[in-house]
Amino acid sequence: MATTIAPTAGPKIRTRLPGPNAQRVLAGDQTYISPSYTRTYPLVAKRGRGVVIEDVDGNEFFDFAAGIAVVSTGHCHPEVVSAIQKQAAELIHMSGTDFYYENMITLAERLSSIAPMKGPHKVYYGNSGTEAVEAAMKLARYHTKRQNIIAFYGAFHGRTMGSLSLTASKVQQRRRFFPLVPGVTHVPYPYVYRRPAGTEARQYAIDCARFIEEKLFKTTLPPEEVAAIFVEPIQGEGGYVVAPPEFMQELRRICDQHGILLVADEVQCGAGRSGKWWAIQHAGVEPDIVCIAKGIASGMPLGVTLTRAEIMDWVPGSHASTFGGNPVCNAAALATIDVLEREGVRNAERVGRHIMDRLRTWPARHRMVGDVRGLGLMIGVEIVKDQRTRETAHDERDQIVQLAFERGLLFLGAGENTLRVCPPLVVTPEQADIALDVLEECISIVEKK
Ligand SMILES: Cc1ncc(COP(=O)(O)O)c(C=O)c1O
Repeated sequence: MATTIAPTAGPKIRTRLPGPNAQRVLAGDQTYISPSYTRTYPLVAKRGRGVVIEDVDGNEFFDFAAGIAVVSTGHCHPEVVSAIQKQAAELIHMSGTDFYYENMITLAERLSSIAPMKGPHKVYYGNSGTEAVEAAMKLARYHTKRQNIIAFYGAFHGRTMGSLSLTASKVQQRRRFFPLVPGVTHVPYPYVYRRPAGTEARQYAIDCARFIEEKLFKTTLPPEEVAAIFVEPIQGEGGYVVAPPEFMQELRRICDQHGILLVADEVQCGAGRSGKWWAIQHAGVEPDIVCIAKGIASGMPLGVTLTRAEIMDWVPGSHASTFGGNPVCNAAALATIDVLEREGVRNAERVGRHIMDRLRTWPARHRMVGDVRGLGLMIGVEIVKDQRTRETAHDERDQIVQLAFERGLLFLGAGENTLRVCPPLVVTPEQADIALDVLEECISIVEKK
């Protein structure tokens, strides 16, 4: 594939890690940078191309974290780079809040053509995932004139005050930040692997959705006062947990019945990663609002809140952003959509299937692999101490991630004890095999401890 350096070239570790140049950067980081970040290993990136990241000491890594599921077209895809360069030489900024420029509309047309619900559509541009969610929250309240929102345990929707109020994946993310935005109620998400013993997977998923109707709406929350249900069709930070189609279909039914908006947060699972443009499409369900960011612009900061046109009925002054939908980010997004449409989405489905075919055999061969799940190139490998009790193995998961780093493979954890496999969507089967060989070796080492 033209987008990668050499399909079968593997990682190359040339120094001890971190190397001397990396150590210098880490010292500076220690001095100056916010300690709130959650780095798991000392990767100091210098340049990237395709799935390869070279660090400041000349070590080459395979990036199976894709900058937290962002570089969908791979690092520095030539078409994306060229679009950025061309746009930067012409117009970097104008602010769509007060002026007009053409690629705001060109991009909106492209997004509309791939949207997971029927048009006509309208688009609001922000700069990040959390802003896409904030805009959706405000719009849902504005449009419905209702105040309350339902979200799910395990959800991650961002860290600004509004989206943080929906986030329910790790308590540290909320500690000492209260009071948050009022009016949010969390309910169970269908984490099928961790369902109560004796329950059937499909029925459990349906029951999770019906809890809203049969418990919440009858005891604490009048449905006619609920503006929206926010859901990740695949929970990302919560552990790469796929919602069964029946669950999404039930949510749609409940929303329709009570005039509630269904908001799909596709910040992590969207932009082709699941093997379809949008993960919600696997369930055959149409959302009212979609939140988009991460992979849509290959690493340039862009957040998009895309809705059915009639929903975006707020008036001038209701919401805006100085930088949102910046011309350079929009150009990167247009080039990204070209690449994903031509090859990325299909490749995510193809290579994702290849990876899953291998991973599916792991629970039988590895006592610490409890579950493998995913769609396309959004795959979770859940690490447990004991397959029977399903006791979570958080430290062991982190050890596996660390060992993989030392061997030139970049993975990230998700949730308490899951490994996320989320390479760029242009990864080849050969590259995936190299990464899985290393991952399997690391799991075996930790299992022998
Ligand atoms: C599903 C989801 N929504 C929202 C966000 C927030 O995105 P950002 O970090 O760009 O604000 C994330 C980030 O991981 C995410 O995974």
